[in-house]
Amino acid sequence: MLTNFNISGGFFLKPNIIEKINTLKKQKKAVILAHCYQPVEIDEVADYVGDSLSLSQIASKTDAEIIIFAGVYFMAQTAKLLSPNKKVLLPQIEAGCRMADMLSYRQLLEFKSKHPSIPLVCYVNSTAEVKAECDICCTSSNAVQIVKSLGVSKVSFVPDTYLGKWVEKQLGNVEVITYPGFCPTHLQIRPVDIENARKKYPDAVILAHPECHMSVSSIADYVGSTTGIMKYVKDSKKKSFVIATEQGVVDRLKRDYPNKNIIPIKNNIVCPNMKMTSLDDILYVLETEENEIFVKKDIAQKAVKCLDAMLEVSK
Ligand code: 13P
Ligand code: SF4
Repeated sequence: MLTNFNISGGFFLKPNIIEKINTLKKQKKAVILAHCYQPVEIDEVADYVGDSLSLSQIASKTDAEIIIFAGVYFMAQTAKLLSPNKKVLLPQIEAGCRMADMLSYRQLLEFKSKHPSIPLVCYVNSTAEVKAECDICCTSSNAVQIVKSLGVSKVSFVPDTYLGKWVEKQLGNVEVITYPGFCPTHLQIRPVDIENARKKYPDAVILAHPECHMSVSSIADYVGSTTGIMKYVKDSKKKSFVIATEQGVVDRLKRDYPNKNIIPIKNNIVCPNMKMTSLDDILYVLETEENEIFVKKDIAQKAVKCLDAMLEVSK
């Protein structure tokens, strides 16, 4: 049962809010999508919990009338691009992605002009304006497949330099020119953390997200998206796993596999923006329908092509 600590020092039960959200969700034909980095209690009301790719695929197919995206801004915006006739609500309108914020439209145009005549791939962690100028989108789980599908020997890639360089290493025969963006949360993980974990837990498998620095991902045992990491733990016969990504993945794995030993690579690998969402915020947007996401028509028309191109490859 979910509990929360109240001001008077006792515990009160949360089922009330969960029940309210679930009732209202049915009445309003709403669907709640939650990213794996969200606070774990959000799963109590979520219809789907997953990585950026799986949630985009669901957003593009849902017949719900309202999509509540428990995640960060670019995720809700992506859902709006893929489901333009649906009402998309972001529980915390201030929750942005610090990596996406590193690449403005002007910076994108400047980068693009330096690398003409080669396909421009954008990570989904980007604004609609950026997507509108790119040829194809990707997420962390399909980036290798997407770049490979282009069948060229050189691409440019924005905004995550480490995901781009990781793709280059996986493919071996494609040069990936990257924009110098990064995820501040994943960059807190250093190679020495992996080395220490290996010494301390010699039997553990070390799993990392491709947003980590290359010096980290190149020495991990497995590199994959949040869902990829969770699936690896689910399917593995091993007992111990060191998780080199955001705390939300650690919390869900601990909850789902109490008999496995789930070890965070270090404390406080937390995306502050992902952790802004609360159950109260979800109830609030469900009740008021505030925090609706809109995208200008001309930008949306171009940006959706970039997403559709990805979904076509990743069917
Ligand atoms: P996923 O593609 O694994 O969902 O990751 C998205 C993200 O923002 C990771 O920082
Ligand atoms: Fe953006 Fe990093 Fe947070 Fe993912 S973890 S949403 S890339 S800031």
